[in-house]
Amino acid sequence: MTSAGPRVRGRFTGTLGAVAATLGSAVGLGNIWKFPYMTGESGGAAFIIVYVIATFLIGLPVMISEHVIGRTARSDAIGSLRKLAPKEPWWLIGTAGVIAAFLIIAFYTEVIGWVLIYIVKAFSGQIVTTDPSVTGAAFGSVISNPWLALGLQWVVLAGLMAIIIAGVSRGIEAMVKRLLPILFVILLIIAIRSLTLPGASAGLEFLFKPDLSKLSFGVVLAAMGLAFFKLSVGMGTMITYGSYYPEEQDIPKSAVRVMLGDLFVSLLAGVAIFPAVFAFGVEKAAGPSLMFITMPTVFSSLPGGPVVQSIFMGLFFVLAACAATGAALSLFEVPVAFLEDHTGWSRKRAAIVTAVALAVAGAFPALAESWLSGVKIGGLNLFDAFDFASSNILLPVGGLFLCIFLGWRWGWPQVKEGLTNKGSLDNQGMVRFFYGVAKLISPVLILVVLLGGLGVLGG
Ligand code: PFF
Repeated sequence: MTSAGPRVRGRFTGTLGAVAATLGSAVGLGNIWKFPYMTGESGGAAFIIVYVIATFLIGLPVMISEHVIGRTARSDAIGSLRKLAPKEPWWLIGTAGVIAAFLIIAFYTEVIGWVLIYIVKAFSGQIVTTDPSVTGAAFGSVISNPWLALGLQWVVLAGLMAIIIAGVSRGIEAMVKRLLPILFVILLIIAIRSLTLPGASAGLEFLFKPDLSKLSFGVVLAAMGLAFFKLSVGMGTMITYGSYYPEEQDIPKSAVRVMLGDLFVSLLAGVAIFPAVFAFGVEKAAGPSLMFITMPTVFSSLPGGPVVQSIFMGLFFVLAACAATGAALSLFEVPVAFLEDHTGWSRKRAAIVTAVALAVAGAFPALAESWLSGVKIGGLNLFDAFDFASSNILLPVGGLFLCIFLGWRWGWPQVKEGLTNKGSLDNQGMVRFFYGVAKLISPVLILVVLLGGLGVLGG
């Protein structure tokens, strides 16, 4: 196949489309799965306060940095840094990003696979039970079945690949614009149901009334790590999306909108989950299994009988699938953009090669509870090792060097030009503020996360 003339890079259709796609990347399993279980484990409101501060001081500045780097260079995560600093090793940051995206999507697609099968299990009434040992056994039978785990992941990869092939605006943006409203409506329905249960107020108190004695170094570290994962930063996703942003986008303003929108979805997910968890006296610190083992028992306790219970439970997993799709698309796009920009391959070919490579890499976390259950890295099974390596090491390293690049190598004149749209926007105060934070504050905080995550600081 030959195409006439140079390839035209994808672009979001406008400033709103760009915000929607970016919000679609930020909103994901992180909101419905990680944020609630970490909040449950780490003491509720106090954790949320630290998380919001970390989002302001780390997540947001790194997101803005990535967007401006991508839009200025108009290339993928590696190509952008190469263009802005030719013949210098900064492109290695982008390389770490592509690897991190690869590792995250490898386990993320597996979790989406579980979500898909849970939609079927929930609507068909198979897991309507208030006994956590029954839901635990049901979950165990999914994750320990190697062919099911692989098959689910392949279905997810094939679906994502088809959307990616459709294009940046006609695939990713169009899909996310359809999914976000559905997600919001379902979340609202479940939140209202949860809030109107007798005894719901204890859950709200847990979410919104801080008990500062719950704060520890470990909690602060966890909150900072979550800020990275939540806003999809530190790995080139946002550089790649920035490269599709329109020239007229007010980057700091749209990043703040994405951050607030994402926080709102997280809090609403908390409101949908914790009042019900407290009303039915279920274990709130259930860890990662909160979504698959605890939540089915929560929905099975709703008044109205098994049909109502399975409908709410099914809706919850549809919600998780809607949220996860936009995030997974943004991860998938990172290697696809790299291949497109560097090999001259068509988008279709780049997407197929990426999907096949992901099916191979994804098999490791997918089989972590079956054929590969004996394989441990540093005491972690392969699933947890992929999560740990990406969230605790690669994302912070990527974010750290991006801030250093922006603040100390690229410098103020370029950043100002990029973020004020060559002086045409009246946002200099905000730009100066974020530049200062990204240059001086974020790197120090990220270093703490990194060393803490590696156990160097004893957290
Ligand atoms: N932000 C997504 C979530 O919270 O689920 C996860 C994610 C997506 C992380 C894309 C990183 C990324 F590049």
